[in-house]
Amino acid sequence: MRRAVCPGSFDPVTNGHLDIVARAASLFDEVVVAVGVNVSKNRLFTPDERIAMLREATAGIANVRVSGFEGLIVDFCRDIEAVAIVKGLRGAGDYEYELPMAQMNSHLTAVETVFLPGAVGNAFVSSSLIKEVAALGGDVRGLVPEPVREQLVSRLAERRA
Ligand code: PNS
Repeated sequence: MRRAVCPGSFDPVTNGHLDIVARAASLFDEVVVAVGVNVSKNRLFTPDERIAMLREATAGIANVRVSGFEGLIVDFCRDIEAVAIVKGLRGAGDYEYELPMAQMNSHLTAVETVFLPGAVGNAFVSSSLIKEVAALGGDVRGLVPEPVREQLVSRLAERRA
């Protein structure tokens, strides 16, 4: 059993994330989407909400499961016996951000990081831009799953009220 982990904050999950998860699922026997619950950024959605959105969005992929994790990602990988971390790279900026993390994780353990090129159509899709555009009234249809878009619009409306 070759198990891989797709870690992230997923606040919220985008179609770019889902493309990477689906492609990872075609390369490994099982993919665990690992939602960071102790990362210190301000979040729009709680860990439970992010996990629920991911579970719904990945329900159609048999070998994908979703879990929260705390602490080091390499410790989580060891605990669940994952051999690789899979990350998507949209461009050079992602590579600059991801490379030191991959090297640190490789320094800490034997877990390998596998980079997949982001699909060209998703190159501009990020959770932070989705939130900014949606908060300013822009249409993010087609960039996130529809149930995620609906929760995003309603959470932003609650925040404004
Ligand atoms: O979606 P993000 O915010 O880019 O996800 C970053 C995440 C959660 C994958 C990364 O911050 C992480 O792995 N955090 C866990 C703590 C850890 O292991 N830090 C050392 C990384 S070298």
